Amino acid sequence: MTKTIQAIRGMNDCSPTESPLWQWVESKVRNVLQSYGYSEVRMPIVESTPLFARAIGEVTDVVSKEMYTFWDNDEQLTLRPEGTAGCVRAAIEHGWIYNNEQRLWYMGPMFRHERPQKGRYRQFHQAGVEIFGIANPEIDAELILLTARLWKELGIEQHVSLQLNSIGSLEARKNYRSALVEFLQQHIDLLSDEEKERLEKNPLRILDSKNQALQEVLNGAPKLLDYLDEESRVHFAQLCTLLDQMGIAYEVNPKLVRGLDYYNKTVFEWVTNALGAQGTVCGGGRYDGLVEQLGGHATTGVGFAMGLERLVLLVQEVNHQIALPRAVDIYMVYSGEGTTLPAFQLAEKLRKNLPHLRIMTHCSGGNFKKQFKRADKVGANFALVIGETEAAAQQVVVKDLLAGTQQVLSLDNVVDYLQKAF
Ligand code: HAM
Repeated sequence: MTKTIQAIRGMNDCSPTESPLWQWVESKVRNVLQSYGYSEVRMPIVESTPLFARAIGEVTDVVSKEMYTFWDNDEQLTLRPEGTAGCVRAAIEHGWIYNNEQRLWYMGPMFRHERPQKGRYRQFHQAGVEIFGIANPEIDAELILLTARLWKELGIEQHVSLQLNSIGSLEARKNYRSALVEFLQQHIDLLSDEEKERLEKNPLRILDSKNQALQEVLNGAPKLLDYLDEESRVHFAQLCTLLDQMGIAYEVNPKLVRGLDYYNKTVFEWVTNALGAQGTVCGGGRYDGLVEQLGGHATTGVGFAMGLERLVLLVQEVNHQIALPRAVDIYMVYSGEGTTLPAFQLAEKLRKNLPHLRIMTHCSGGNFKKQFKRADKVGANFALVIGETEAAAQQVVVKDLLAGTQQVLSLDNVVDYLQKAF
């Protein structure tokens, strides 16, 4: 037998039984984003490699280890590991942002060469928001309110909590970085080889080390919040006040720094305990320097992205109240001479007049018994049956598969009948 070819590790198929839940989650996300007046944008999945290196930072894990990069003739290209860089690139390229505040969202696949495990994949999907041109913290608060609203819509609000921090200006981080390195050098024996390397290149990332002994020592480390510049301090205080007033609970986590280099001021993550190690369902923050850094005029930015796989897993885990739509409402059954055409015509008429219904036409021959079995299997509520007698009389048998009842209707009355039934 010929050897079968499997999907790439960490890249998943979405089966016909899984897709209804995905569609449900995606439609909740879309509806909430639209209810805040944000506009959808779609960017390419492939971008030029230097875009990510410049935006996300050479020393981040994402850029240094996790990118899918290849040569296209003499140009180096990368499958996007996240959406912010491409969105900023597109905003500069098309002038979306100048003299014009923009509130944008996107949804789609991202690629990171990470070690796959539950909640962590090599192809995964994000829904993200990027807001350009609003410097004040009201918009940071709005983003958090929006995500909180979405959690309610998804029925997961009891299982996620908000971690918040401010990482201040570049200058403030530089000062903090020196203080942190000095502190960590006194505990160098606790650092792994990787952390020793980070101490040189990206010491702030050591703050979210998984090493328990180190974490305890880090509780006594200098705190970023104590090094904040005045502007960031005021910005953060205003954000916290507005969140308090709006009744949003959060924990200020001075160790929260995020894994991408473009952030300043606000950073936040929504985390859950219900998914094991990969508990961050949404992360984001401000990136006021990024547009300029990528060659645009200085424009502030703030945004977030959520992992759709993690949201789907969490919904599956904790929300058992969802009524997902069935794939098929009505199954069109027909058998005998001259029955195909009336069955097809009736199905098309129903689709035109009752577009919210899902109507499957049998199409594959066989006797009535086989066709009813199929109707049950796909979960239809009703079977519409046309045999030779019905075809000749311009009629149809409407069989309620759940109640086990049936009646004969004229073809002219079926639309009305089904309109009332659904
Ligand atoms: P991020 O924290 O790298 O931020 O990713 C955002 C979310 O994507 C994570 O919280 C997680 O839910 C999901 N995610 C990340 N990697 C994986 C993976 N390998 N498998 C499954 N899910 C994953 C960003 O990407 C920023 N661009 C967010 C942002 C937008 N900041 C400002 N604007």
